[in-house]
Amino acid sequence: MSTAAPSPLKSIDRSRLASLMERESATFVSSHPKSAALYERAQKSLLAGVPMNWMKKWAGKFPVFVAEARGAHFTDVDGRDYIDFCLGDTGAMTGHSPAASAEAIARQSARGITTMLPTEDACWVGEELTRRFSLPYWQFTLTATDANRFSIRIAREITGRSKILVFNYCYHGSVDESFITLNHGVAGPRRGNIGPPVNPSLTTRVVEFNDLAALETALAHTDVACILAEPVMTNVGIVHPAHGFWQAARELARLHGTLLILDETHTLCCGPGGFTREHHLHPDMLVVGKPIAGGLPAGAYACSAEIADKIVARIHLEDCDTGGIGGTLAANALSLAAMRATLESVLTPAAFAHMIPLAERWTEGVAAAISASGLPWHVTRLGCRAEYLFYPTPPRNGGEAAAAMDFDLERFMHLYALNRGILLTPFHNMALMSPATSAADVDRHTEVFSSALRELAPA
Ligand SMILES: Cc1ncc(COP(=O)(O)O)c(C=O)c1O
Repeated sequence: MSTAAPSPLKSIDRSRLASLMERESATFVSSHPKSAALYERAQKSLLAGVPMNWMKKWAGKFPVFVAEARGAHFTDVDGRDYIDFCLGDTGAMTGHSPAASAEAIARQSARGITTMLPTEDACWVGEELTRRFSLPYWQFTLTATDANRFSIRIAREITGRSKILVFNYCYHGSVDESFITLNHGVAGPRRGNIGPPVNPSLTTRVVEFNDLAALETALAHTDVACILAEPVMTNVGIVHPAHGFWQAARELARLHGTLLILDETHTLCCGPGGFTREHHLHPDMLVVGKPIAGGLPAGAYACSAEIADKIVARIHLEDCDTGGIGGTLAANALSLAAMRATLESVLTPAAFAHMIPLAERWTEGVAAAISASGLPWHVTRLGCRAEYLFYPTPPRNGGEAAAAMDFDLERFMHLYALNRGILLTPFHNMALMSPATSAADVDRHTEVFSSALRELAPA
């Protein structure tokens, strides 16, 4: 973690924060008796009482159990309604159960879910993704993680190089090679890395985002098969690329024989063709996932014609099912029907024209509240995603963004919001707009956020 950032939080009174947190925790427990009972029951059959380990990270003493989710809202088993700005951490950026996707899923699920054979929907989706992202050849997976893994394999195979390069504090799913950070400039396993197969410094070079000199030095070793990057970092707060960064990084990659893989799983929030389309980037490979099937598991990855020729020439028919790129249920008929409906009718240009102004409205509301509070925080936006950080200015890289994080403060902000019917992603302070989100939803967040700041930092 970078040590460059000075402590930005001197204006938060920690004992005040602790007593506010105690009050909010008690409110949460007393107002969610049915979720509490289910959590108690889950202790007996689910590891640590949750179906997936990161569900422990929700800000309350236990996660709320969902009864039903529709559009931009959901209700929990205690009958409470929430505005959902987490939206399945982008998996439900479409809104929950969008009608067109849900209808296609219902229709296809009655006509065969998985056969290991292609359907016509696969052609339609490949053609549509090509139109959006300008890369010609596509493959499908069940998750963006797998799409990243398989892209890396292809890059290694055709370059004959062993390493990949990522940016400090990136996140690309549970891809082993990517759990690496810089600690005082030294690369090593990321904190919390569970059972790493090898020290990731053996597989990966890591540099700070926006640091072209470090990138050039790393690529000059000529052992880097690919750069795997989000075009804008979104998983350590939002970190924008500096002006001209991607054009220069693109050139450096070409110069050193390294492929550029852009992971658009979250930056799809910028528009129908993601940040790549909006900013005319030219990756060699591209990954998308999460919302592209309306919330049903689906991922996709693409490559240029040149890469396609090289990889196709190297895959032998007899071994093509055991080459390490797989997934029995990948490209199943159900997820392709869902992708087709979602791309055709849900994640449309008109939807983004609704979502992006709402994110602007959210950002303006939060910025005004921060300014009124005098706290040294800021808010930033990317397409229909916005995020506040406990730091006065936008971070230039992942190290700076990580250094500005404050787990206790984050939990308080999330729990305060949750107790007032607002869900934010459990991992940082991100809010996402869906086609079903309304201006009233956004204004309610502004109201609750302002009230939290007044309590945290009274005049
Ligand atoms: C940029 C990015 N890529 C890939 C993934 C992995 O997605 P999944 O967990 O659906 O495989 C994530 C998950 O948060 C992500 O943020």
